[in-house]
Amino acid sequence: MPPRSSLTIVLAAGEGTRMRSSSAKVLHPVAGQSLLAHVLGAAPDGAGDKLAVVIGPGEEAVADETKRLRPEAATYVQRERLGTAHAVLAARQALAQGADDVVVVFGDTPLISPGTFNRLREPLNKGAALAVLGFQAADPAGYGRLVVEANRLQAIREEVDASAQERAITLCNAGVMAFDGRKALAIIEKIGNANGKGEYYLSDAVAVVRDLGLEAVVIETNEDEVRGINTKAQLAEAEQVMQARLRKAALDAGVTMIAPDTVYLAADTSFGKDVTIEPFVVIGPGVSISDGAVIHSFSHIVQASIGKHASVGPYARLRPGTTLGDGARIGNFVEIKAATLEAGVKVNHLSYIGDAHIGANANIGAGTITCNYDGFTKHKTEIGAGAFVGTNSSLVAPVRIGTGAYIGSGSVISRDVPDDALALERSEQTNREGGASRIRELKTRGKKPKGD
Ligand code: UD1
Ligand code: CA
Repeated sequence: MPPRSSLTIVLAAGEGTRMRSSSAKVLHPVAGQSLLAHVLGAAPDGAGDKLAVVIGPGEEAVADETKRLRPEAATYVQRERLGTAHAVLAARQALAQGADDVVVVFGDTPLISPGTFNRLREPLNKGAALAVLGFQAADPAGYGRLVVEANRLQAIREEVDASAQERAITLCNAGVMAFDGRKALAIIEKIGNANGKGEYYLSDAVAVVRDLGLEAVVIETNEDEVRGINTKAQLAEAEQVMQARLRKAALDAGVTMIAPDTVYLAADTSFGKDVTIEPFVVIGPGVSISDGAVIHSFSHIVQASIGKHASVGPYARLRPGTTLGDGARIGNFVEIKAATLEAGVKVNHLSYIGDAHIGANANIGAGTITCNYDGFTKHKTEIGAGAFVGTNSSLVAPVRIGTGAYIGSGSVISRDVPDDALALERSEQTNREGGASRIRELKTRGKKPKGD
């Protein structure tokens, strides 16, 4: 038998007023990726699988995020926010095209895994019209309760409509449902809005299925997989769950972390062999760390590629567009942005390197600053292989320091330096013999010595 085709409908409309945010709820990040990205990443995407995303009017940013992640997905706009069943019908066109299985998932449920989608679809193969993902909630407040009688799922009761007895139920609706694709549209169209909120609840699909004499089943999963995010507090909880997963995966992959709970990773962080991450490191999206690299404490790294056996920090900041070659060394209080540092480059202390290319084995002294911005435009600094930049130098871009060139400390370099040249830009030093004594005498005249 060929694999069953599927249509996944992701409901992502609405600002999420309880997030108290001006950006769409599903664009909030967990482990450096939007909630939507996590859900789209878990949804089936084989040859026979289609994807539809329902967004709110004017939610261009959500449409763009969808396009970025799954360009083949169709987006539909739910004009009025009249409930989750109403939202599914916004994708009526996709539903009408037909699929063996129709899976509806909420865009605010980022912890779901691909395996759970598969588990949920299994009962459809055995004749069920509807499978609902359920979980035992530690605190069921806000979730729809699964009403099970005589071992059969009879209904889902939303909190506002539930009796005291029903509110005591801890088995809850995770918000993910799989429908028999031939029946999905007919079932969802029958859902009414005679309830506490006057909304079309997708959860009422269970009662409709029962009324039609069809089978609805519950597939259970654990709470950590299905936490729905309505508030910033729930966003923080989901982050904790995701971080725990990512840390475990990193440890399993051989990363050394002596205090994993203090290390923050992104969902797409990649590691080579024998990587060490010291306590209190924050890694944002788009970071790859190669074999043997060490990230020392208190470093902050986003969109950066770190070469083999490189050393970063403590207290380093690698911003987007940083590439460190093998064995590069970035020390404390160094910030790097949009720069490539070839193998063996050292920037050990207190520097800013932005919009730059630094050739292999160059040594950048403490306090060196690439002056990349003139208040209007960004300019590039080019430093040749093996160059030595003395401490406290300002490199005023655009500027090129030649291969093997040597810059004297404290220089402000605004013109190109040829290969192998020595560049010095500072005023002549004057020494006055005995001058120190004269100063001391002048300053202490009429004063008692200190410390009495
Ligand atoms: C919903 C379920 C509840 C379940 C919980 C799980 C309903 C009526 N309730 O409640 O049973 O326990 O999720 O997390 O289904 N959305 C739209 N258009 C709408 C309304 C919602 O696109 O008109 C989208 C939202 O963007 C969100 C998702 O649907 O991603 C769920 O909506 P939300 O308001 O968060 O539902 P809950 O109250 O959490
Ligand atoms: Ca929700």
